[in-house]
Amino acid sequence: MMILAIETSCDETSAAVVKDGQAVLSNVISSQIEFHKKYGGIVPEVAARKHIEVINLVIKEAMDTAGVSFSELDAVAVTYGPGLVGSLIVGLSAAKAIAWGLGKPLIGVNHLEGHIYANFLVPRPSSLAPQFPFICLLVSGGHTMIIKVNGHGQYETLGRTRDDAAGEAYDKVARLLGLGYPGGPVIDKLAKEGNPKAVKFTRPMLNDGYDFSFSGIKTAVVNIVHRPSSLVPRPADIAASFQQAVVDVLVEKTVRAALATGCSTVTLAGGVSANSQLRAQLKARGEGEGLKVLIPPFEYCTDNAAMIGAAASFVPRPSSLELSPVASLKL
Ligand code: KG4
Ligand code: ZN
Repeated sequence: MMILAIETSCDETSAAVVKDGQAVLSNVISSQIEFHKKYGGIVPEVAARKHIEVINLVIKEAMDTAGVSFSELDAVAVTYGPGLVGSLIVGLSAAKAIAWGLGKPLIGVNHLEGHIYANFLVPRPSSLAPQFPFICLLVSGGHTMIIKVNGHGQYETLGRTRDDAAGEAYDKVARLLGLGYPGGPVIDKLAKEGNPKAVKFTRPMLNDGYDFSFSGIKTAVVNIVHRPSSLVPRPADIAASFQQAVVDVLVEKTVRAALATGCSTVTLAGGVSANSQLRAQLKARGEGEGLKVLIPPFEYCTDNAAMIGAAASFVPRPSSLELSPVASLKL
């Protein structure tokens, strides 16, 4: 099954050609980050306009790189939510036009489901493929969830954030420290030079089920940076201590969820899964408990169309050219 997949839910315009849900023949990503940086976050109107400018070029490059002609496609897959409506509409319109023109099915994919299916993309030895049921820690700019995946398209949400998403906390803390946008990669880098024990942040809700809360840590950082300047720790120490607190809670709850539900595999998904410490600590802690820990390669962690192609291949969905964007689509 050859799928052209399109993803425009936020600030990345992406198109990919994916064969049989696993082989990525191309995965073109055009990032708008440079345009949003000066505003300190994503401006929805700008995002939609930028998608329009590049969508056709990105699709053409994905097809050319894959060396596949439109007539060889079996279906077109597209993200229809959750995300920014103005951004989603651009990808949806392009996907509908291509599917209609070719007379091929149009498959709508939930962006969150796409992140989970990034774990199926890599051709791995079959002993390493995720086996159902497995636990997925989905951590992105908009979501933080622990999901039990019981089968293809079968999700049980065990826990979620009650306030900020983990990526959102990274972005807000980076802004407080004057590190720019997006905050995740820059804090990840800076934390390597800092002392994770320099600032004592609490581990919110550590012993309280599988839900998360990150707004308290963010407020603690606000209070720290507003101290008299001689009492403000080095930014690298704040970054390292903040990151340690976030990662400790994410890893601990994920491993506990796997052990409590009898799942032997844990997977990571979403933009924050690009975080080097989260990857290393989940692997060490999970494997220490005898769990199999699967982490997608970096390029499939942040928003990309290849993951949308994988989800469309594994989870059957009816084709519909009537598909509309759904800003707060649930898993
Ligand atoms: O999944 P994603 O690309 O977009 C959404 O669906 O939200 O996630 C974006 C989020 C941003 O908040 C960004 O700061 C965070 O992922 N992020 C990271 C890292 N790379 C991206 N957070 C921590 N460490 C990173 N290395
Ligand atoms: Zn995402």
